[in-house]
Amino acid sequence: MKSYVILISGRGSNMDALLDANLPGQCAAVISNKPDAAGIAIAAKRGIATRVLDHRGFASREAFDEALAGIVDEYAPHLILLAGFMRILTTPFVERYLGRLLNIHPSLLPAFPGVHTHAQALDAGVRIHGCTVHYVTPALDGGPIIAQAAVPVLGCDDVTTLSARVLKEEHRLYPAVANAVLRGQVGLSDTGRVTVTEEVSLTEALHAPHFA
Ligand code: GRF
Repeated sequence: MKSYVILISGRGSNMDALLDANLPGQCAAVISNKPDAAGIAIAAKRGIATRVLDHRGFASREAFDEALAGIVDEYAPHLILLAGFMRILTTPFVERYLGRLLNIHPSLLPAFPGVHTHAQALDAGVRIHGCTVHYVTPALDGGPIIAQAAVPVLGCDDVTTLSARVLKEEHRLYPAVANAVLRGQVGLSDTGRVTVTEEVSLTEALHAPHFA
């Protein structure tokens, strides 16, 4: 059976959605860089092995990532899912797991990389926002895109309402992608392209707002 690990830093709602999804693989461990991450307690309650590696105990990013790789490798996972893991990973770490490392980002990349994505979207005045699941490469939030989910931005939105609408889609999109990757339906080619073996064709345009 395939296995995966989930890396978190906080609340853990995407982790919870992944664990709810009955994925075709076993969650070997949930790893957090923050001892007080709420997601750690949720995972423990679900009977999943949990590990905490406090980044504050390391002199450099490189040293932390090396220790993190040591923990990840104990589980020899097929897939590593970043789910609200709020650390920039070093190139050696990313390259070690290239093609096996996924992230969910709360915007329609390449728009709004980095943090405060919902505020960025509201400031820019976009009418469609959303989330992206992508392979992680050394380029921050710049790796090959696997799938995206879009939501409308409403005139009355603030960061709270918009982030809630996006988060709902994150909880659908990430498990669906993880499922497809674990089944071998999605992969990363040697040229850095996402390959999809069983594609669902989507022919309808999305309009927001929609003027009938
Ligand atoms: C999510 O919006 C995720 O896309 C972003 O950080 C947030 C984490 O939320 N990277 P949670 O910990 O999964 O609830």
